[in-house]
Amino acid sequence: MAELTTIRLNVNGHTVIRDVEPRTHLIDFLRDSLQIKGARVGCEHGVCGACTVRLNDKMVRGCLVLAVQTDNSRVETIEGASDRGDLAELQAAFHARNALQCGFCTTGMLFTAAELIALQPDATRDEIRKFMSGNYCRCTGYQAIVDAIADVLAARAKQHASEHRAC
Ligand code: FES
Ligand code: FES
Repeated sequence: MAELTTIRLNVNGHTVIRDVEPRTHLIDFLRDSLQIKGARVGCEHGVCGACTVRLNDKMVRGCLVLAVQTDNSRVETIEGASDRGDLAELQAAFHARNALQCGFCTTGMLFTAAELIALQPDATRDEIRKFMSGNYCRCTGYQAIVDAIADVLAARAKQHASEHRAC
């Protein structure tokens, strides 16, 4: 058995201290050691986006990061982001637009969509498609996902415009 390394990190607001094998990927650490199952394992080589989580507020692919690399870091999964209400608007839009079927891709989609909304609040439908192209979905055909994200962007723009008028 490989030598174990002790890591200490914050996961969804909780301090976690564990011994891990140096080769253990973050996604396996979350799912197998911590039993946090929201992020999924798809391709296991950085292509499908199913394993997306946040590491120190930045999106990463959990299958491309080693657990030992997260020592002294903050990790957030869909469970933590949901509990904080951070993705509530997007989650409601995905629900309203029926933008998920099996749900396997959805946690990664939500994190990527949140990043898009933060970085490109004026994104067109084509830009939404391009930004989301690193997240694969085998069920929905993507149309409803783009609709859901476009709805959130439109609602944000409307709110921003009315706040601007009120000033
Ligand atoms: S499982 Fe990590 S990108 Fe596909
Ligand atoms: S909803 Fe099934 S893979 Fe996207």
